[in-house]
Amino acid sequence: MSKQKNGEKLATLIHISDLHFRSVFKNDKTWFDNIQNFPIIRGRLGHDYQTAVALSNKIYDILQECKGNIKESEINILKGYKDVEKNKKRPAAIIFSGDLTCAEDEKQVKVGKKYLRGKLSIGKKRKVGLNLGRDRNVISEASPGLLFVPGNHDTHGLSEMETVNAYRKAFPGTFPMLWKINTGKETKQIYFYGLDSTHNNYPMHKFARGKVEKDQMTDLETEIKSNKKIPNSIHIVFLHHPLTEPIKNAWMPQLKLDSRKNIAKKLREIGVDLVLSGHYHYNQFKPSNDDFPNHSIVGTGTQMFSEKRSFSVIDIFENIIYINAWIYNEVKQQFVLDENEEVSFDI
Ligand SMILES: [Fe+2]
Ligand SMILES: [Fe+2]
Repeated sequence: MSKQKNGEKLATLIHISDLHFRSVFKNDKTWFDNIQNFPIIRGRLGHDYQTAVALSNKIYDILQECKGNIKESEINILKGYKDVEKNKKRPAAIIFSGDLTCAEDEKQVKVGKKYLRGKLSIGKKRKVGLNLGRDRNVISEASPGLLFVPGNHDTHGLSEMETVNAYRKAFPGTFPMLWKINTGKETKQIYFYGLDSTHNNYPMHKFARGKVEKDQMTDLETEIKSNKKIPNSIHIVFLHHPLTEPIKNAWMPQLKLDSRKNIAKKLREIGVDLVLSGHYHYNQFKPSNDDFPNHSIVGTGTQMFSEKRSFSVIDIFENIIYINAWIYNEVKQQFVLDENEEVSFDI
C-alpha cells in the first residue's frame, strides 16, 4: 500500500521529452504538413507551434507555484494542479530527456536552445520559452534549472559518432552528467545523473537503437556510491532510451536500448530511486521490483500529430514520489491534468 503524502515536498521536477523542434518557430502549419500525417513517417515530423506555446505557458504557471507565487485563491490558474494548498516554496528543475530536434540541424538546435534557455519572439511583443538560463550543476530554491541529455534525433545525421555536431556544441558536457538539487537540508539532497544513450554503432544508430557504454555505467556507479554517503539522499538517473520494451511494437528490434535488462538490474542494485526516459512517444510507468528500478517514460512533448502529447510533474517527498501527467487538449489548446491516474513510487 502506498504511503500517505505526508512530510515536506522536497522538490518538483517537470519532465519533458521529444520536443522535435523544426528550424522555424512559427504558426505556419500548411496542407503539406497535414498530408504528412502517416504513421510510418510521424516519428520524423517536427514540433507543433500551438503545443509548444501551451507547454511553455503551463510550465511557467507550475514554476510560479514552486516559487510560492500562486496562492490557494488562485488555484484555477493551474486548472487542477493538485496540492497547491500545500503551496510551499521549493526548488524545481526541468528534465529534458532528448530529441530536441528532428535531425540535429543547426537551425533546429538554435530554436530548441532558445526555447529552453531563453525566449523566442512570436510577434507583437509576445515571447515564448522556458527561460532557464545557463547550465548550473547545483540548483536551489532561487531559480529553476535545466537538466538535459541528447536523443537519437540530436545525433541523427552523424556518420562519424565522434563528430561534435550542432547539438553537442550547444549542450556540451561529458557523461554521466551530474547535477544536484540543494533542498536546503543537511541531508535529503537530490542527485541527478544524465546518461548518453545515443552512442551506438552507425547502422544501429540509424535504427534509433540505443546504447550506454560500459565506461558510463562504471563512472555512474562510482558517483552514486560517493553521493550515497549523504544520509537520505535521493538518486535519479535519466536517459533518452527507456529500460522497458516498447508496448506498441515490442517485436521490432529498432528503438530499443541494448542490454536494457542488465542496465535496469544494475541501476536497481546500486540504489537508483527513479529512472526517467522519453523516445517511445507515449507515457509508461513501471514500479520497481528486485531487478528493475522505478521507471517513468514521458510521451512526446510537442511533436505534430502525436497521439498524446504530454509532460509529467514529479513531486519528490522523502519516502515517496508522485507523478502526474499533463496531456495536450487540441480543442482547448492547452495542457490539462490527467485526473485518471496519479502514479506513486515508494523510495
Ligand atoms: Fe522522439
Ligand atoms: Fe528518440
